[in-house]
Amino acid sequence: MKAMVMGGLGLSNLALQDLPDPRPGPGQVLVRLHAASLNYRDLLTLDGKYGSMQRRENLILLSDGAGEIAEIGAGVKEWKVGDRVVGCFFPFWQNGEPQDYLLRDAPGGLADGMACQYRVFNSDAILPIPPQLSFVEAATLPCAALTAWSAVRAAHKTGPEHVVLTQGTGGVSLFALQFAKAAGATVIATSSSEEKLRRLRSLGADHVINYRDDAEWGKTARKLTKGRGVDLVVEVGGAGTIKQSIRATKLGGTIPLIGVVAGPSLDLPLPLITMNLLKVVGVALGNRRQFADMLRAIEHHAIKPVVDRVFPLTELPEALAWLQAGKHVGKVCIEID
Ligand SMILES: NC(=O)c1ccc[n+]([C@@H]2O[C@H](COP(=O)([O-])OP(=O)(O)OC[C@H]3O[C@@H](n4cnc5c(N)ncnc54)[C@H](OP(=O)(O)O)[C@@H]3O)[C@@H](O)[C@H]2O)c1
Repeated sequence: MKAMVMGGLGLSNLALQDLPDPRPGPGQVLVRLHAASLNYRDLLTLDGKYGSMQRRENLILLSDGAGEIAEIGAGVKEWKVGDRVVGCFFPFWQNGEPQDYLLRDAPGGLADGMACQYRVFNSDAILPIPPQLSFVEAATLPCAALTAWSAVRAAHKTGPEHVVLTQGTGGVSLFALQFAKAAGATVIATSSSEEKLRRLRSLGADHVINYRDDAEWGKTARKLTKGRGVDLVVEVGGAGTIKQSIRATKLGGTIPLIGVVAGPSLDLPLPLITMNLLKVVGVALGNRRQFADMLRAIEHHAIKPVVDRVFPLTELPEALAWLQAGKHVGKVCIEID
């Protein structure tokens, strides 16, 4: 099979290789992948910045993929050849609270990922694709969508009475916008350009703020809530945004810490959190049960993932460069022939 393999760190070490076709063992299935999607994490992995455990060479990249079952291993009863499936980010975390031993072997970082034609999955590490989604759309879901779902539905039970603030137009933030709107919430969304703000409005954002023009965007968001503050900030910026996020959030509000696109560490006066009784919680995707709940909600609300551009597998380096340039809105995807 063809696979895009990171021979070593850096974009220049990414190359197409011919590898032996894998075969499923007992309790496993072989999936013919048709699509994959990129996440900010793939850029960190290529740079060797995805934690001390990440593989630094001979790694098939990308955590998110979708395809159809091509072969069934011994003892597997719940799937058949031809079923359309999407992979889980954490293959062992089925349900309940996270445990170290359940968070192992995440694809495209610790284990081989989805930038290839065939991949073996444990039969309980995949889920069926909602009928209205294409393979490309389904491939956008395992990391960004599930993380947004956990922020909007698990870290905080968002409903019509709530105001949610999202940051930027990347994968996680657009899913958070879509899930918050599906729950009936009011959404305030920030971005870096007028064109992207227009896209946010067309996707349902009630209010938009250009964070490049308005350094005090947190204060502006609070004003939009008549001084009360927002209930939830989906925090993907990290160090460069959290002070404004705190500014925007109501007394007792929730800030799920998700990402670091605007920096990983900072000096933060902690009384800002304690005196405002904020619930600042780490979010690391979710389990398979939550993924299944999210897929049902996507089907029920007919949510269409926002696909920015689709590149062929051979152009994965170009796709990663496009993601790094930050011009995208939504998900950058890969089609696999
Ligand atoms: N904890 C988890 O489970 C988890 C899971 C998935 C992702 N993440 C993390 O979440 C972050 C986002 O991931 P992603 O895949 O959605 O990234 P992405 O698709 O690459 O999106 C990044 C976007 O962030 C926006 N941005 C950049 N600087 C910003 C700033 N100062 N303020 C507001 N927005 C800013 C930009 O949009 P605009 O140009 O519109 O501003 C940019 O396109 C990453 O740090 C990633 O590692 C964490």
